[in-house]
Amino acid sequence: MKALTQEKLNEIRNSVNIVDVISSYISLTPRGKNYFGVCPFHDDNNPSMSVSSDKQIYKCFSCGATGTVFKFIMDYENITFNESVQKVASLGGIKIDLGYVPKTKDYSEQYDIYDLSLKFYINNINTSKGKEAKEYLKERGITEETIKEFQIGLALRSKNTLANILIKKHKPEEVLKSGLIGKNEYGYFDLFYDRIMFPLYNLNGKVIAYSGRIYNRKDNSKYFNTRETEIFKKGELLYNYHRAKDIARQKNQIIVMEGFMDVIRAHSVGIKNAIATMGTAVTKEQASLIKRMAKEIILCFDGDEAGAKATKACAEELNKIGIIPKVIRLENNMDPDEYIKEYGKEAFERKLNNPISIMDFELSYLKNGKDLNNAVDKAKYINQIIEEINKINDDILKEVTIKKIADETKIDEEIIRKHLVEKPKVVKKEKSLPKLTKYEKAEKALIYFMLKSQEVIKMYDKKVTYMPTKEYRLLAREISAFYHEYNNINEASFIDYIEGDTELTNTIRKVNQNINAEKYTLEEIEDYINVIKEYNVNTAIERMQDKMHEISDPLKKAEIAQKIIDLKKGV
Ligand code: CTP
Ligand code: MN
Repeated sequence: MKALTQEKLNEIRNSVNIVDVISSYISLTPRGKNYFGVCPFHDDNNPSMSVSSDKQIYKCFSCGATGTVFKFIMDYENITFNESVQKVASLGGIKIDLGYVPKTKDYSEQYDIYDLSLKFYINNINTSKGKEAKEYLKERGITEETIKEFQIGLALRSKNTLANILIKKHKPEEVLKSGLIGKNEYGYFDLFYDRIMFPLYNLNGKVIAYSGRIYNRKDNSKYFNTRETEIFKKGELLYNYHRAKDIARQKNQIIVMEGFMDVIRAHSVGIKNAIATMGTAVTKEQASLIKRMAKEIILCFDGDEAGAKATKACAEELNKIGIIPKVIRLENNMDPDEYIKEYGKEAFERKLNNPISIMDFELSYLKNGKDLNNAVDKAKYINQIIEEINKINDDILKEVTIKKIADETKIDEEIIRKHLVEKPKVVKKEKSLPKLTKYEKAEKALIYFMLKSQEVIKMYDKKVTYMPTKEYRLLAREISAFYHEYNNINEASFIDYIEGDTELTNTIRKVNQNINAEKYTLEEIEDYINVIKEYNVNTAIERMQDKMHEISDPLKKAEIAQKIIDLKKGV
């Protein structure tokens, strides 16, 4: 059920650009008039999905998924159509009230609280109370410009200054929910005390939490972070995602680091395609965010043992979703921040240009602390590597690695091979489409162009009385009806118009499968129509022939025979 008119839906749809919206979910690259990306609605690694800014629709040439911005968000986020419309409306700044619709939760007060706290912290660091903090940052080589860009601020050496400010403007229960303020028998108090405040952002760049660093005193924890709240889920975001995503897309490369200080350093020297996992194990959600940002993924964790472990864990999580990352290792236990500061941007870029493969990383990681002249160590090493090779989903990388360790350990390749598990080859599902008859092909193609041109609809109206296949017949009728109601055809409006009708939606998907054409010729359309006509005539003839066999009256028989001849002439 839809609560909005077609006109209102059009207005909301046109308030945003589908290319901008979809590119906040998946990585898109421009090619010709359209943008292309990897379709998130089926298992794929090729950029089969095109997004058209002219038409405001997306379309996957492989699985046929198609729709407008509403459908994309609906399917991607697994929400209802109305919720999706609501989302797009708020992106486009259009106020709508879908009344009975379960509203997506409104976190605006939480965001407001964070906006206010951010102003407060930024102001603090620029007053005399921020002198020491500024000196600390300066000492670390963080410039005034970087402080501004990353909105670095300061929590005061005060028990409740921020609490007082927030409580004056916001509902106490909301203030407590924010994770910035606590409450005890004496009243409200600030949770962050005398720390340099690094704002953390959600995927859209809104401040939703902080990491506060000590700078002038000893404390058990170097960083104190906002606890998880309804707007801050650490495992679902990546530090610097909103700044890095477009640049990563352009370069088709994303650098994954551990700490946000590393990212800030890299950014400040002009390496802007880096994000940070912020010290915790990479989650499935983060892995798929990383996957969507760029094709080349480079893990650059801290140079110490913990960093090596994190590299391994992250690579495994990425491997689960079909990604084989590359790796950079930094000497002397340095982290990227220290490395760039010590050796400079160029040295770091040299590393970036020569990353090692994940298998090479594994080899050196596993070799660590082992003596390959010792039989026990050597056997252990080989067994561990075989285990790793078995996990890898890349035949070439497998081969190269087998050769490498055979060489290194002087063990026969065949012996290593014997211990490998043959992975069952993954059969690509989408390739085995059922064969279409030429009639179905004609129906599909005709509908495909009916969605694009009123000229084709008019031809359909005039010449096609009956489409053979029921689902195409229903869809063609619906398109024609839409055209007569609104006096024009616009694919995006039509798709939204039939939203909720799963049968028609599925048929549209079928129509779009494996077809990719912008232009048609009138001849071509006539051909499709003739094929459809031919089918109708043939089935009519068959029916008459059956009838002719059933009756015995010679006169009637002759009559039907004549009709058949007439029909055949018409073909
Ligand atoms: N971290 C944290 N709490 C800690 C230590 C680390 O939340 N007590 C997180 C932070 O998000 C940090 C990341 O883990 O960005 C990486 O930690 P670490 O390498 O120790 O931080 P650095 O980036 O090296 O920070 P700094 O250079 O300021 O010491
Ligand atoms: Mn560091």
